[in-house]
Amino acid sequence: MRALAEEAVARCLQLAQCTEEPGRITRTFLSPPMRRVHLLVGGWMREAGLDVSIDAAGNIRGVRGSAERRLIIGSHLDTVPNAGAYDGILGVVLGIALARVTSASLAIVGFSEEEGVRFSVPFIGSRALIGSAQDLLDSDARVGDAIREYGLDPSRISEARLPGMAYFEIHIEQGPVLEHLGLPLGVVDSIAGQSRWSVTFTGAANHAGTTPMHLRRDALMCAAEWFLAVRQTALGTDGLVATVGRCEVEPGAGNIVPGRVKSSLDVRHKNDLVRLAAVDRLLAPSREIGARHGVVVETGEMLNAGATPMDSRLVELLSKACEGFAAHTMTSGAGHDAMVMAPIMPAAMLFLRSPGGVSHHPDESVLIDDVAAALICGKRFVESWNG
Ligand code: HGY
Ligand code: MN
Ligand code: MN
Repeated sequence: MRALAEEAVARCLQLAQCTEEPGRITRTFLSPPMRRVHLLVGGWMREAGLDVSIDAAGNIRGVRGSAERRLIIGSHLDTVPNAGAYDGILGVVLGIALARVTSASLAIVGFSEEEGVRFSVPFIGSRALIGSAQDLLDSDARVGDAIREYGLDPSRISEARLPGMAYFEIHIEQGPVLEHLGLPLGVVDSIAGQSRWSVTFTGAANHAGTTPMHLRRDALMCAAEWFLAVRQTALGTDGLVATVGRCEVEPGAGNIVPGRVKSSLDVRHKNDLVRLAAVDRLLAPSREIGARHGVVVETGEMLNAGATPMDSRLVELLSKACEGFAAHTMTSGAGHDAMVMAPIMPAAMLFLRSPGGVSHHPDESVLIDDVAAALICGKRFVESWNG
């Protein structure tokens, strides 16, 4: 399995070359570098004896055997900006490796969009696979345009539905838990819920030299005050994480008082009631702070994905398959396509240790021994899964 693990890591590094930005890994929904990814991944799937196709959402899938007993193994091929080489990608590459060392009825899927970077719409690929992507196309014409631009037909999105009996995803942990415990693998029992909001501050742009401080409607100073309030609220709520990851300042010149700030809010917690109550507490002060600065604050909900338990029978099966590797049962703080698949079919996730707990960063890495362990346990899981 070590040779297969080395090959898998080499393939992730090869796919990392497919990027929109030379010198760093950035590959968003159906962007041009995804063509070469589909070429390479399609070739590896064919080598593994799978029937390869690309659906109207841009998911690449390699299928073998009947749908009645099909285990879907997948993850995503898109990345965040300046990403690491393994988030999502490793799960697709390992799925193909498992197809080569097992004989089960499988579908290996490389989802086209999980991160939601290009249009702030995550999970387009997996939503299409379960037959619920039409409303994404209806609510944002850019998604259909991007599909057409790639040479696919969005009117056929409903044909992307792929029946299966269960879903299995192998993914890096993207956090510090397994490394802290000194363990190679984790079995996910649930995925934290997540809220994503847009928060826009509109004040008045003006001359930086002539506008007295007390006459300003400075969108950025207002936003900055709210950002600090977000941190305070999150620090005061046990187990909650809140992130302002995007902050676009307009007009954005150093000698102009900022007139507008477009920002984002990402809130996660394993308990949905705690998360949703926290979202209200996080958003509420923005209006009061806005009033003090003479700034209008608009908020919009982009995503409300509930905490998602994995299937208890599959969790047990996967834990058994990990015997000898002391896999740690844990909650995933990161979101995954498994959140979309789990309401439709039993789902399970296997985590690999993230050295340094680093992810969504070029320093993201994996250990070959951990990849080999994931292949050994993944093979046992696929063979013990009997539909
Ligand atoms: O944001 C997430 O949790 C995932 O990496 N898309
Ligand atoms: Mn990610
Ligand atoms: Mn991911």
